[in-house]
Amino acid sequence: MPAEPNASQEPSSPLFAAIYDPATALVERTLLRPHREYLVANLDGTVLDLGAGTGAMFPYFDSVATESAAFHAIEPDPHMRQQAREKADAQATPIRIESAPAEALPYEDDCFDVVIASMVFCTIPAIESAMSEIARVLRPSGELRFFEHVIDDGWRARVQSALAPLWKRLAGGCHLTRQTGSRLAAAKSFDVVEIERLNLGVTPIRPFVRGRLRKRSVSPAK
Ligand SMILES: C[S@@+](CC[C@H](N)C(=O)[O-])C[C@H]1O[C@@H](n2cnc3c(N)ncnc32)[C@H](O)[C@@H]1O
Repeated sequence: MPAEPNASQEPSSPLFAAIYDPATALVERTLLRPHREYLVANLDGTVLDLGAGTGAMFPYFDSVATESAAFHAIEPDPHMRQQAREKADAQATPIRIESAPAEALPYEDDCFDVVIASMVFCTIPAIESAMSEIARVLRPSGELRFFEHVIDDGWRARVQSALAPLWKRLAGGCHLTRQTGSRLAAAKSFDVVEIERLNLGVTPIRPFVRGRLRKRSVSPAK
């Protein structure tokens, strides 16, 4: 298992936050839409958006919100969080946003039905710590739904590796070369419901994985 870096420092990327929505506007309307819809399909109960960024998932929550649904989000970067707050305030569905990293979630055990991760495990410094926290806050049989870009094969992987250090500096700590699908599927508190690789995007942000994991009812022996 890879060593986990220190996750205690609060991220702060004002430039990345400022350009995020304009830079992604076209792909949001085209490539990303069906995958964000996948994340909210038949959504109900208490939902956590992990690393909400500027709030790109919020309109999707608004579009499926039922009376019994309640939405929460965490976002540790203050510049991203400010935009997320503005987006939440402008729509009908209330979303309670906290300043916290995925590795230290400010919630009680077993309080969420669904955790949603969209393009965030590329940036979370300590994936396995975040998975432990997600397992802690999900109810038994609760779901982690994810949509993430990952390392490609062959020459594309070599391009990603060469660009990775610069990309990480420019894109708010984003890693281009993570094998997020297999790392999430290996989490011991979860069963894989479904996981698929999507040849979607343009190098270096290609391919993607999306899927659903279900928290086991009985915790694995330590
Ligand atoms: C590429 S953005 C994705 C935002 C959003 N989920 C979306 O779908 O557009 C990644 C986000 O992860 C946030 N982030 C960074 N470190 C984090 C951590 N330790 N836990 C949770 N989120 C983190 C960043 O601040 C950034 O807003």
